[in-house]
Amino acid sequence: METCQCEAKWEELEKIIDAHRGQPSALIEVLHQSQELVGYLPRNVQVAIADGLGLSLSQVYSVVSFYNHFTTKPKGKYQVSVCMGTACFVKGAPAILERLEQELGTKVGDTTADGRFTINQVRCLGCCALGPVMTVNQKAHGRLTPDTALEILKEYQ
Ligand code: FES
Repeated sequence: METCQCEAKWEELEKIIDAHRGQPSALIEVLHQSQELVGYLPRNVQVAIADGLGLSLSQVYSVVSFYNHFTTKPKGKYQVSVCMGTACFVKGAPAILERLEQELGTKVGDTTADGRFTINQVRCLGCCALGPVMTVNQKAHGRLTPDTALEILKEYQ
């Protein structure tokens, strides 16, 4: 079995699975609780869930990959989401995203080596007049330039 970040929590994970052992219909609930516990759903967690619930790994993976809520990669402390909706796009969002990737040394969907920031790109956040917009966790920041976006992230260092 591959190593993962969650060995200390493995016992708790087994309790979650045991509570639904042999119940394929509990998959979403088990995935949700497991992600709450571990923070993400690496392959070995998916294998354990598949075995416990009586499903194939591909059945589990298809649900994990279908729902945006589930992630197979560890998330950073701060979720940085740059809006790439049409209004933000034409006002310069791609340059912001590119600059953040360069400065943080990571790509969209990935997390910085220090575990602080995960960069995401999202569709319209519903505040187009403030574009370009990004959110850091739930807080929105608007009328950004690449420089101001970086300045904002420094507040979270
Ligand atoms: S397009 Fe970015 S908030 Fe609407």
